[in-house]
Amino acid sequence: MYVTLREVLAEANALNMAVGAFNTHNLEMLPAIIRAAVAQKTPVIIQTSEGTASYVGHRNLVAVAKSMADEFGVDVVLHLDHAKNFDEIRKALDAGYSSVMYDGSSLPFKENILGTKRVVEYASKTNASVEGELGTVGGTEDGIAVAQADVHYTEPEQAVEFIEKTGIDALAVAIGTNHGQYKSKTNISFEQLEKIRDAVNGFPLVIHGGTGVKEEDVRRVIDLGIRKFNVGTELLVNWNITSKDAYNEHKENTSNRNNVVPALEVVQSIVEHKIQLFKNIG
Ligand code: 13P
Repeated sequence: MYVTLREVLAEANALNMAVGAFNTHNLEMLPAIIRAAVAQKTPVIIQTSEGTASYVGHRNLVAVAKSMADEFGVDVVLHLDHAKNFDEIRKALDAGYSSVMYDGSSLPFKENILGTKRVVEYASKTNASVEGELGTVGGTEDGIAVAQADVHYTEPEQAVEFIEKTGIDALAVAIGTNHGQYKSKTNISFEQLEKIRDAVNGFPLVIHGGTGVKEEDVRRVIDLGIRKFNVGTELLVNWNITSKDAYNEHKENTSNRNNVVPALEVVQSIVEHKIQLFKNIG
């Protein structure tokens, strides 16, 4: 079914697992991600940036996500990732996205509450879900984490107040991860995550920058309440490496599929592997 974060994160909570949220950059990657979820018998969250949504077309993404959810009997959420602009959020929700993230994390606390609340109100018209963010997730340069003075962790007391005052469905937390970290790995603050988990009382937490998370840390963060696990860069990097090789290998008059399909196979196998880890079995 075509669903929201509410359904899939409630199931993840009940089973002490996380649902994978995978960023697609084009229309081709989307079916590969859903096929991986079908093979692993789990729900899946497809995320796009505002840029990808405009490039592919919001309604095209909605149509494919819905039709595959129907055809394969798998729960699919289509989620707008890191949106800061209300008009972009409205465009996605009006086109049928089932979920959005409002990223007001760089704003003062009160403004983040006000902006997020406004999005929650608009999203309620279509029954869509909303993810908010508190604290700052770090950034990278050339795939390596950069030390930033202004990165700060999510404060547990603020998290409780934020959840209560905004009515969000999931909270992205800053616990030391960085977006785009594919050449090094993150040192997560488990201590901070534990404090947040204890304060928010089972509320679904989201980890960003999943590419940089060590495999051996996945279970631990799930046991500490992470229910949505974002992975983007690892898929993108491997798509690019694989398709570069394929383009070099094949003649210019070969079907374009011969260059794209190997990249899709790699994406599918990475997504399957991540989903296996996120099931948190054994
Ligand atoms: P990575 O690209 O570092 O995996 O992060 C994905 C993400 O958090 C999207 O919001």
